[in-house]
Amino acid sequence: MADAKLIDGKAFAMGLRQRVGAGVADYVGGGGPKPGLATVLVGADPASQVYVRSKGKLAVELGMASFDRKLPAETTEQELLAVIAELNADPAVNGILVQLPLPKHIDTAKVLLAIDPAKDVDGFHPVNVGRLGSIAPGAPLDFPVPCTPLGVTMLLQDALGHLAGSNAVVVGRSNLVGRPVAQLLLRLDCTVTITHSRTRDLPALCRQADILVVAIGRTEFVRGDWIKPGAAVIDVGINRIPTADGKSRLVGDVAFAEAQKVAGYLTPVPGGVGPMTVACLMYNTLQAARRVAGLPYVAV
Ligand code: GUN
Repeated sequence: MADAKLIDGKAFAMGLRQRVGAGVADYVGGGGPKPGLATVLVGADPASQVYVRSKGKLAVELGMASFDRKLPAETTEQELLAVIAELNADPAVNGILVQLPLPKHIDTAKVLLAIDPAKDVDGFHPVNVGRLGSIAPGAPLDFPVPCTPLGVTMLLQDALGHLAGSNAVVVGRSNLVGRPVAQLLLRLDCTVTITHSRTRDLPALCRQADILVVAIGRTEFVRGDWIKPGAAVIDVGINRIPTADGKSRLVGDVAFAEAQKVAGYLTPVPGGVGPMTVACLMYNTLQAARRVAGLPYVAV
């Protein structure tokens, strides 16, 4: 069998960014204010600083306004809640992203609950989680949906076209990826199985998957012989491992070289799902701005 076709998430994300940029230009050209994205970073975690900076930079590149709030690590929960209340009340802000993880002395659930659901561009507020959990098959996603899961389903729809009736197995049950991916695949009429670290005979379940989405956070956890020949495999893992030369490299949750010999479609790490997350955040911010203005949801 031929090697798997690689799903180029980087190229798809570039296209999505351009379409969002065109959507912003159209919205602003029609007299709308610039869509605004606020990022909130508590503390100075280097990886989080990089992520937040790239989100703000891309927002500006696409014609949006970016508001960056950097708060010291000792910020109290009360102080953070006050910043969120201020952003909730600010009409120039359409999207609020609180970078996770938060310092341990802050109750993350309480903070996410404080964000106006209409501005919750991460889709983590319980109201939006509930909307996704109760969505009818094929109904429009007219509320914010978590960015990485949205990116996963966009890539699958682009690669496969039609997903209805497919057996989809999701490996991982996190609130960030596994659960919302499963809900999105169910909306697209897949038959969905959610698996996790305690699942009995996981390899056998995975071998039944036409679509295998892996988000378990373990380096090269899914092996080639777990994959059904011709399946579409989406690797959401990002693991940094040391290399012989004292440096490091990124690898996914799927043993890439093995999977490539069996799968029909496969996302690389890096360059697969990763670039989709921030592109979908921009998409969510544009949609949030359009909803405030009473404009309909547009697929871009
Ligand atoms: N930290 C890691 N991933 C994410 C994400 O998608 N959103 C937020 N807010 N924080 C994160």
